[in-house]
Amino acid sequence: MKVLVFDRRGRLVELDNVSAPTLMRAVRDAGLDITAQCSGCASCATCHVYVDDAWQAKLKPVGEIEDAMLDVVEGRQEGSRLSCQIELTENLDGLTVTLAPGSGFD
Ligand code: FES
Repeated sequence: MKVLVFDRRGRLVELDNVSAPTLMRAVRDAGLDITAQCSGCASCATCHVYVDDAWQAKLKPVGEIEDAMLDVVEGRQEGSRLSCQIELTENLDGLTVTLAPGSGFD
């Protein structure tokens, strides 16, 4: 499957043949700058992404813990999600996201 990621500089990076179980892992495996400090436990929010409008309804709803974590991030928006909580299933082929401020080491 394919995932399209805009990094924090606005550069579009196409991830092909993605087999990672979650979006955070796919982004990290591709070598993009994402902190993901808790490695996917939904306890750090340093994997924050903005999901493109067209894809938001295709994702599972935001969970209670994810929602609480997103409440403390800078710049929460309508499409805000923790990328470690997005499981990459076939119906998400072509998923497009933007790495949010605060999700990387820069
Ligand atoms: S990696 Fe920590 S909340 Fe996603």
